[in-house]
Amino acid sequence: MATIASAGSVPRHAETAIAGELVDTRLVLYHLVAALVFLGVSILAGFLFSLQFLQWYPFEGIELLSPGRWRMIHTNGVAYGFLANAFLGSLCWAVPRLTLRPLLSKPLSWFIFYAWQAVVIATALGLTFGQAQALEWGETPVWIDPVALVGLILVAFNFMGPIVKTEGPQYVAIWYFISAFIWTILVYAMGNFIPQYFVGGAAAGAIGGLFIHDLVGLFVTPLGWGLMYYFVPIILKKPVWSHGLSLVGFWGLAFFYPLTGIHHFLYSPIPMFLQHGAVVTTIAIELVVTTVIINFFMTIVGRGDALRTNLPIRWFYTGMIFYFTTCLQCSFQTTLTFQKIIHFSDWVVGHAHLVMLGVFGFWLLGIMVHLMPRVMGAGRWYSAAANSWHYWLTAFGTLIMFLDLLVAGLVQGYMWRDLSPWEDTLVASMPFWLLRTVSGAMIVVGQFMFFWNVWMTWTRRASLPPQSVEPAPTPSAPAPAVA
Ligand code: HEM
Repeated sequence: MATIASAGSVPRHAETAIAGELVDTRLVLYHLVAALVFLGVSILAGFLFSLQFLQWYPFEGIELLSPGRWRMIHTNGVAYGFLANAFLGSLCWAVPRLTLRPLLSKPLSWFIFYAWQAVVIATALGLTFGQAQALEWGETPVWIDPVALVGLILVAFNFMGPIVKTEGPQYVAIWYFISAFIWTILVYAMGNFIPQYFVGGAAAGAIGGLFIHDLVGLFVTPLGWGLMYYFVPIILKKPVWSHGLSLVGFWGLAFFYPLTGIHHFLYSPIPMFLQHGAVVTTIAIELVVTTVIINFFMTIVGRGDALRTNLPIRWFYTGMIFYFTTCLQCSFQTTLTFQKIIHFSDWVVGHAHLVMLGVFGFWLLGIMVHLMPRVMGAGRWYSAAANSWHYWLTAFGTLIMFLDLLVAGLVQGYMWRDLSPWEDTLVASMPFWLLRTVSGAMIVVGQFMFFWNVWMTWTRRASLPPQSVEPAPTPSAPAPAVA
């Protein structure tokens, strides 16, 4: 099967005329709103948990609100409530437009919407009542695992319906989507069932490591890049720079990413050849990532004004810079030399926030800024200023949190290496944890400004004037901002 490099290169997507018939805009809106609701709950949970590090936890002694449980609500909420819902909403918009066919079944799409919310809420309740499994990122109560797996299979069927009917070459975005649908089912099944029922000890640890990282590499990464290959050319109104590089990026990801996960458990009883393999493939991933980044930055050459005038593009490209940074960081921190210092330290938590929020969160928030007025039937956002504040607070909050935890990790790592008393390392970490809470507050305030803007745009949508129609960009007359 051949591919087409960019969503913007062929006229198969008439942006507006066909949208109404193809896309269930209400479904897109519902998924995006659900994503924002879970984002709100989970970042408040993260903020709450950060207070525990400062000995300011307000609900001490209340079992249902114990910090450990709310940490899991934070991590599971951002992954399965925010990111997954935002991905599903974006796919409900992008896949019909790329294939020019509606999703397999409208009732099935709505069933998936409600079933997914039920799974996320049941997970949150299960975690609150202490039913977590001892499996990192697979803490979902044991009875939810098969239900979530069936849900993922239904999702794959629903989106593959229009894709398999499409003849001829496929856009590279579609390649990423197809692989994400298949890989996510396999990864979820591997991570949730094999350690639970089939293997134990170091083998279960190895599978757990693969699972943690494959969730990032084979679920969120292909969906994220697939959506970038769709939205960036559409908004910039120009094709992706290199078809060849987009293929290198795709196949490089497919080849190297599945092998990287053991790098979470270096210096463990897992056989050394697996640990070394993980180190090599993790470094290889950085090279692959570089090709993708070059491709997107060459694409924006000549349209650099969009970084200033177009907010979704600014979210996307900030996320790409963070992506490059985090992958570069990963290729160093995966080495055994770095691991001696940073393992178990806050360095890793800083890295996790840069990836999950700074990259995928940013891309999805950018997509929301682009899509929400469209699916709400509003001409434009109620407040451009609130959207701008949302961006700057989130961008600086994320950057500060990342740098803060990076330094905290080094301080902790070196103190542990020097066998400093444990209490001393806690005292030394306190200022960093305080700054983490402050930067977290910036992120929380930014998101709540966005929620307010969504609400105001929805309630005032009838009175908001329509967006101006964009003229095709020319070198002398660049296109105006979309949002
Ligand atoms: C969409 C936004 C966010 C995402 C995607 C996100 C993601 C994550 C992830 C993936 C982890 C697990 C890290 C690990 O185990 O290494 C985590 C932990 C954590 N997050 Fe967030 N986070 C977000 C926002 C926030 C905010 C606003 C705060 C407020 C301070 C926060 C505070 C924390 C804390 C305290 C932990 C636990 C760290 C530990 O156990 O040492 N997060 N978050």
